[in-house]
Amino acid sequence: MKRDAQPSLAPKTNAGLMARRQAAIARGVGQVHERFIARGENAEVWDVEGRRYIDFAGGIAVLNTGHRHPRLVEAVRAQLDQYTHTCFQVMAYEPYVELAERLNAKAPGDFAKKALFLTTGAEAVENAVKIARAHTKRSGVIAFTGGYHGRTLMTLGLTGKVAPYKTGFGPFPGEIFHARFPDPLRGVSVDDAIESVELILKNDIEASRVAAIIIEPVQGEGGFNVAPPELMHRLRALCDRHGMLLIADEVQTGAGRTGTWFACEHSGVAPDLITLAKSMAGGFPISAVIGRAEVMDAPAPGGLGGTYAGSPLACAAALAVLDVFDEEDLLQRSRDVGERLVAGLKRLAARHKSIGDVRGLGAMVAIELFEGGDLTRPDAELTKKVVAEAARRGLILLSCGSHGNVIRILVPLTASDTLIDEGLTVLADSFDAVA
Ligand SMILES: Cc1ncc(COP(=O)(O)O)c(C=O)c1O
Repeated sequence: MKRDAQPSLAPKTNAGLMARRQAAIARGVGQVHERFIARGENAEVWDVEGRRYIDFAGGIAVLNTGHRHPRLVEAVRAQLDQYTHTCFQVMAYEPYVELAERLNAKAPGDFAKKALFLTTGAEAVENAVKIARAHTKRSGVIAFTGGYHGRTLMTLGLTGKVAPYKTGFGPFPGEIFHARFPDPLRGVSVDDAIESVELILKNDIEASRVAAIIIEPVQGEGGFNVAPPELMHRLRALCDRHGMLLIADEVQTGAGRTGTWFACEHSGVAPDLITLAKSMAGGFPISAVIGRAEVMDAPAPGGLGGTYAGSPLACAAALAVLDVFDEEDLLQRSRDVGERLVAGLKRLAARHKSIGDVRGLGAMVAIELFEGGDLTRPDAELTKKVVAEAARRGLILLSCGSHGNVIRILVPLTASDTLIDEGLTVLADSFDAVA
């Protein structure tokens, strides 16, 4: 647009904006729904054409406290009136320190902890690996099949799924190995998973060169596969035996999604390092690495940080999220929402045999779809159809899973029961319409 050009007064449409998007934005940036938001409020959004949607996607696990929670808006406004940026490494500010203190106090493990703030989930994972390497003076990292850790080169290397994330972007950093994640539907047990770690140590890299094992307590993009507590305990023991660190990637599971602040609390296992992002600040970009103080202190001054890392606005939002969790008892709400979703989805599964599994932890709940209920035939086509039909009927959903056949629910925990039930009804109607 020329500088003196007048902005168009024509009403905006999703199709019109889609055409501009396609002309201006790299196609590698995908988009699930061909819709543009005009406004969001708690668990509802309205598009530029005025259509209302129930939001079961929560911006991919970012909105546990909903769109524009009044406490967050108020906290960020107050911060805007004071200062918005210094770079913490140049001139520090108290909200960063207070946020670290409060998250350190929440992290499991009977040992001193320290934290570090960054901007994205991938950056948190990158830094967790850097810190683990600096502490152990080893290079190897073991991750899991189906895991997802981000889109930077190191995190893509850790990610255990090729298309679409890794296609065309290699080579990836070396010394990364993938063990099998348990998958009861496909006959992969905890024993198989542990055996695959031991095989890596036998065939690929000696234990004394492995810095860390990284695992999502519940795989997010991979399909909401829950790591059984037994696996977490056996990985902890294996790490202790070999002097490796255990990293829990809680970017998607953290901030109360599973009914505890960190999902690893369910297993009773304390990781050495935890990564956190997404819902920790309700949509303001910030991520964290929290861990054993002596491990976190391994990198020398200057080795960690970033220009925007731990921005004051995001710290203010994150502190408000912690307050909201306390004031509204959102951990209990997460467990209640989870029970409500599982009950509703089980009722749906009883009517549709394509739904082969209903699973999750707390309010991190998903269904997996199969052709005619045959567990050997994942149904990605039906999954896409249900997601598209639900959007037409006013419900925003997301799929996931190594086979693209899982529908996951990440509705804000602040959503009312009435709204959740309305969303479940739309989902059921969508199944009836396409299945
Ligand atoms: C478990 C996990 N780790 C890391 C990431 C990457 O986070 P970001 O997209 O903020 O870089 C994600 C994003 O979905 C994730 O689910």
